[in-house]
Amino acid sequence: MSTTFEELTAILAPFDQTHVLRYWDELDAKAQESLADQVKAIDFNELARLIKGEDEQVDFAAMAKDATLPMAVSADGSGVEWSPEDAREKGEQALRDGQIAVVLVAGGQGTRLGFDSPKGMFPAGPISSRTLFQIFADRLLATERRYGVAIPWYLMTSEATDTDTRAYFAENNNLGLADDQVIIFKQGTMPAVDAKSGKLLLAAKDSLALSPDGHGGTLRALDRTGCLQRMKENGHQHLFYFQVDNPLVTLCDPEFIGHHLLSGSEMTSQVIRKRYPTEKVGNVVQVDGRTHVIEYSDLPDEAAEMTDASGGLKLWAGSIAVHIFDVAFLEREKNSDTSLPFHRASKKVPYLSDSGEEIKPETPNATKFETFIFDLLPSAEQTIIYEVDPAKAFAPIKNADGAETDTPLLARQAIVNLHRGWIEEAGGSVAADVKVEINAKYALDAAELKTKLPENFRVDSDRYFDA
Ligand code: UD1
Repeated sequence: MSTTFEELTAILAPFDQTHVLRYWDELDAKAQESLADQVKAIDFNELARLIKGEDEQVDFAAMAKDATLPMAVSADGSGVEWSPEDAREKGEQALRDGQIAVVLVAGGQGTRLGFDSPKGMFPAGPISSRTLFQIFADRLLATERRYGVAIPWYLMTSEATDTDTRAYFAENNNLGLADDQVIIFKQGTMPAVDAKSGKLLLAAKDSLALSPDGHGGTLRALDRTGCLQRMKENGHQHLFYFQVDNPLVTLCDPEFIGHHLLSGSEMTSQVIRKRYPTEKVGNVVQVDGRTHVIEYSDLPDEAAEMTDASGGLKLWAGSIAVHIFDVAFLEREKNSDTSLPFHRASKKVPYLSDSGEEIKPETPNATKFETFIFDLLPSAEQTIIYEVDPAKAFAPIKNADGAETDTPLLARQAIVNLHRGWIEEAGGSVAADVKVEINAKYALDAAELKTKLPENFRVDSDRYFDA
């Protein structure tokens, strides 16, 4: 049954938002229904609280003053009572036992990169030009082969990336994965409001200005689409979470999984030792016995620059947005009103003016609301962070070539450097200025590569080690 003008007015009027129905009479039935669906999907009580700023806002500066570090496993394995080998063994067992599922968040619009398709379709392979999605799929397939187990891949898209992502997987035979193994689900949206008046913005006569609700929306979306339920039913007790922009992600790293299990952590995060105080990564800290991430943009410089007794950065742990969650923890938090607070961002959002004119603002005119998945950390009873070497685990593609950091060029170089290192570790050598790239299906790590290469193996020209 279609929704009437009166029904929508009844929803909108108490919140003084009826202006979004201004063009109702000009719309055909389909357009009316689509606008009605958008309006009905909004929690107006929640939105009104956000507009009024009634939600609890965190004083990050005060928090940073008291911040220390949470329990951490350093890159050399120190910081915990068990050894890296114990952790690896434990993680391998969990993989073999089929306890692990993975979730990729790929709903971002990738505006900084300037790539029109979903970022997962970006050709990141330095020689193969494999896309990010393909690089992840190859790693997943190699992991499955090693541990003799199927690992489900939950893939979160958004309104902006869903259609193209689904088409890409369908056209490419699911990248070699089984049909029921890749579970694509779509995250929710949040409306943008005028920064001054708090009024909803119209993107078109039949549409609100909507944007993805942030990667914190993963939890809501996993629940709403039945994915959490499916994990529980299939015995997947731990969920490996990663972002679409990092081709070096150590997907399903058994050692990481093992530290999570041995520490009894409910949420475990990979971190890098920040290379300089204001590096653009979230800072993982501990305050009043709880773990938090303070975004780089919220950390005052004085706090970022604090040093410890040995002269190193006190708050050294930069999140690379790779986590493991206990599914039971997600289940417990899924209905919490407080565990995923909204963050506000001031943005330029094109909109339809009162006179129906399309306006493209030159300066930020709107407020967007997003939740961040790392805000679940303080709700966890136990956490641990795990230091990784960025050369082995983190080379995100965020900016277009030409920028100083996080570009495709730098990520491709990082892949080549890592794989060159593997060949050298395996006793081989690579001529200077020569590129190498190894498909995970050929070798998942240096140790496996060693079993495949002849002694004194030498690479003299660019070479892609395909599966
Ligand atoms: C993010 C983290 C930062 C971390 C860094 C590591 C935030 C706010 N900050 O920064 O702490 O150090 O990564 O690389 O996340 N996404 C969705 N839906 C959304 C929004 C984002 O799926 O609604 C996905 C994107 O597709 C991407 C990831 O989340 O995979 C990161 O989003 P982005 O906004 O690019 O975060 P960064 O600012 O790069």
